[in-house]
Amino acid sequence: MARCKCSGRAFCLCLLPFLMMSHLLVYIIVTIFVAMSYRPEPQPVSLPLHFIAPGVSSNSGALASHPLNAFWNLRLVEGALWNRLQHLKDRENNPILRGNITVVRGPQNESTDPFPNDGSPLCQPDHLLASQLPDFNTIPEQMKDFVLSMHCRSYTLLKNQPDLCNGQDTETDAPMLFMAIKSQVGNFENRQAIRETWGRTGLVQEESGGQRWQVRTVFLLGRQDVTTGPHPDLEALLQLESSLHKDILQWDFRDTFFNLTLKDLLFWNWLAVHCPQAHFIFKGDDDVFVRTSALLDYLNKHHASLQGTNKKVKDDFLVGDVISNAWPSRQPTAKYYIPESFYKGIYPTYAGGGGVVYSAALAMRLREVSHWVSLFPIDDVYMGMCLQRLGIRLIHHPGFLTFDLPDAKKETPCAYHKVLLVHKRSPKEMLTLWRVLKAPLAEC
Ligand SMILES: *[C@@H]1O[C@H](CO)[C@@H](O)[C@H](O)[C@H]1NC(C)=O
Ligand SMILES: *[C@@H]1O[C@H](CO)[C@@H](O)[C@H](O)[C@H]1NC(C)=O
Ligand SMILES: *[C@@H]1O[C@H](CO)[C@@H](O)[C@H](O)[C@H]1NC(C)=O
Repeated sequence: MARCKCSGRAFCLCLLPFLMMSHLLVYIIVTIFVAMSYRPEPQPVSLPLHFIAPGVSSNSGALASHPLNAFWNLRLVEGALWNRLQHLKDRENNPILRGNITVVRGPQNESTDPFPNDGSPLCQPDHLLASQLPDFNTIPEQMKDFVLSMHCRSYTLLKNQPDLCNGQDTETDAPMLFMAIKSQVGNFENRQAIRETWGRTGLVQEESGGQRWQVRTVFLLGRQDVTTGPHPDLEALLQLESSLHKDILQWDFRDTFFNLTLKDLLFWNWLAVHCPQAHFIFKGDDDVFVRTSALLDYLNKHHASLQGTNKKVKDDFLVGDVISNAWPSRQPTAKYYIPESFYKGIYPTYAGGGGVVYSAALAMRLREVSHWVSLFPIDDVYMGMCLQRLGIRLIHHPGFLTFDLPDAKKETPCAYHKVLLVHKRSPKEMLTLWRVLKAPLAEC
């Protein structure tokens, strides 16, 4: 071929294979482009579906979802900062996508904690990250603060209670319910009301009059947020409270709404070190009312119903007010406002942050997986993101009333018969409710 002397005929013969090859190439390229831009037509309702995907349905109402884009499309989600960061994290830790260069975490080593709860390395604002958000200068202050510090996860523990679970190492002595309550320095009254009512530490009897279980309570605090203006100095009072009740955990970060996620992360770290033997964790706000004995009843029954099932089923337990298909708030004045430049898409299924109960084993898994999930400013959504990655099915319980009872029913004790948690109640209301609900609800 290479030496063919070029008469017209031979020239054709020389060129023909190349022409054919290039046609084939064009054909392949066109096919790929057509395939990539393919969007499936919405399925007619009568067609039987062969595959029901779990999770959200974003495109076809009651039908199961089908992917809107080709599933092999691995392009970065353009624009939204969180999605991009997460995309990188997902790839970085995925050996299939990234080849052999994985960030090796190694098998669990009892003696070397891969995620130590160390003090805070100096955490400087990350302006480089901020510069990747095109509308950084126009987003609300709390969002700015979040973006600047979202790479920081470890903060010094200012007030610790290292002995809280000491001497409770056996299966039966270990706290059945460990209550971790998000509070703020100034909320002395809420904390005291909780101690005197539903958050009482010690043995608590199940509602049905059965067993008594150990309950422990701690309050999760950050540092008073002084950026909003001058504050009275409550440090001495807090110090007194902490030494009196020994139930205050405080970390060295600004206690703001968008920093609440840190309380989960830091609490999981604390739990891993100081009370891993607890059975169930309650995490909630300091303005809710919990029927602790009814909750113990429920947990014990649930636990008993799982006798004989494998450990994983028992451990993957989370119950609360489960919210699916929620969209981020795009209202710039809203408390929960998340700009589109920061997060795109629907939220994963999550449990309302007013109060949620999960197994301590799950807390340990959340703690691990959280290292592969970029921080998100809304704590319950963040937990949903972690749960999604663990593949946990959340249990919805209608007794978790994070949006309260109807007004007309608030005052009738019977209305609380089936309630496990209700939001929101002032310290005074907690005390009143506690007294009222102590009387047996026989007539309900
Ligand atoms: C990946 O790592 C494993 C074990 O270290 C090795 O056997 C394998 O050849 C590597 N694969 C590639 C594609 O480098
Ligand atoms: C676990 O940690 C100990 C102490 O640091 C070390 O000697 C051992 O090699 C580690 N084991 C694994 C599997 O990494
Ligand atoms: C969270 O706390 C850190 C440390 O105090 C602070 O730098 C950051 O601005 C806070 N973030 C928000 C969103 O308030």
